[in-house]
Amino acid sequence: VRDDPSAVGDYIANYICKRINDYNATPERPFVLGLPTGSSPIPTYKALIKLVKEGKLSFKNVITFNMDEYVGLPQDHSESYHTFMFREFFSHIDIPPAQVNILNGNAEDLIAECNQYEAKIKAVGGIELFLGGIGSDGHIAFNVHCLFFLRVFVALTVFPLGSSLASRTRIKTLAYDTILANARFFENDISKVPRMALTVGVATVLDSREVVVVVTGLNKALALSKAIEEGVNHLWTLSALQLHPWALIVVDEDATSGL
Ligand code: GLP
Repeated sequence: VRDDPSAVGDYIANYICKRINDYNATPERPFVLGLPTGSSPIPTYKALIKLVKEGKLSFKNVITFNMDEYVGLPQDHSESYHTFMFREFFSHIDIPPAQVNILNGNAEDLIAECNQYEAKIKAVGGIELFLGGIGSDGHIAFNVHCLFFLRVFVALTVFPLGSSLASRTRIKTLAYDTILANARFFENDISKVPRMALTVGVATVLDSREVVVVVTGLNKALALSKAIEEGVNHLWTLSALQLHPWALIVVDEDATSGL
């Protein structure tokens, strides 16, 4: 637990820096890092960029895999996760662009795209450390569920209710509350928010050797308490970390208010 989002970002950045440096990565044995989007990891990205600029960290032998991407949003759209990642992180560090992997939400065959992504992760030896954030409903990546008050609506409209803990990279229809939460990035107009995304599955995250999750802000307090004080379940997918042997959740004081 740290005081505020900026202290959380500094902590995680120093942690990742040490992990990468201790790993002694080489081109033959790269460090494979999973990465999220969202506002929560921004302080971490800022702190990592600073470490690179100070010469304390290099991404030359790091391969990255992002968690998710919207379906159908042009890659160069200001809110695509491609654009986000280059704007907030990749353009400011020394990673060769060929070592960046982000799902293509405009692929002709989306199922093949998801399967190839899983295969590519496997081919480089699996993810060493997966950094994640969560939505206020406790979802990791885009492994979403719908809030209880929407269930009547959902039952009538065949939207998915949760995310299997065994899920792999796949197409996911976004829950209404996730679309609502992300409308802030689309001029507060929910009609502009993509309805579907490609996302790594819960099992993809659990497969990585280490998982580090950033949870900051009062609006994440309920999700944090559900995920760590209640049982493992497919609705609050952060709870799946209870099954992981090496998981770290770094939170600010506000996020702990439901504990
Ligand atoms: C989206 C992303 C998640 C992210 C979440 C929370 O749903 N797919 O990976 O964790 O937003 O974003 P924020 O950190 O802005 O609250």
